[in-house]
Amino acid sequence: MRKLAETNVGRVIDLLNERLVFERTGVRLYDRMLLRMQLTEDGEIQRMVDRMRRYRDEEHEHEVWLEDQIRDLHGDDRMPTEKSVLVLAETQGIERVVQRDPRLQHDFHALLTAELADAAGWDLLVRIAEDFGDREAGREFKERHRQEQEHVLFVSKVVEQFLKRELQDQPTPLTYL
Ligand SMILES: [Fe+2]
Ligand SMILES: [Fe+2]
Repeated sequence: MRKLAETNVGRVIDLLNERLVFERTGVRLYDRMLLRMQLTEDGEIQRMVDRMRRYRDEEHEHEVWLEDQIRDLHGDDRMPTEKSVLVLAETQGIERVVQRDPRLQHDFHALLTAELADAAGWDLLVRIAEDFGDREAGREFKERHRQEQEHVLFVSKVVEQFLKRELQDQPTPLTYL
């Protein structure tokens, strides 16, 4: 991260804080949904729990890693920054759905929106690191972007399966799981 930070350390901290606030939101979304999934009697949903728990742990690893990076740059990982405030505003609707709507198909719909934004956020970091020639940061960003792409793929498949159930108007199995 050193090379990137040499350009404008305040802006880099802002950018990392933006991602961090999103990852913290991600962990809350997964925690809430996992609680709901464990309470359902739908076997198809229960079979997803392990994978969802793994993704939740990946979001948490991203969170911890970002906190470390910010502290290494002598930044404050709890201080609101320009873009972290922006991200909090953007994600309010998603959090509201997952906190208050007990229908899992709606929760997954909201989670898909979150994961798409999350993947795009890491992709942006990868490209910024490339633009400024920070190969070490680029490698770290890329690894996490790859995980986010997997999250998007899985969550979009689940949304697709829920939609198929709805269109067929019957409880067909979620075959992807
Ligand atoms: Fe994430
Ligand atoms: Fe994710």
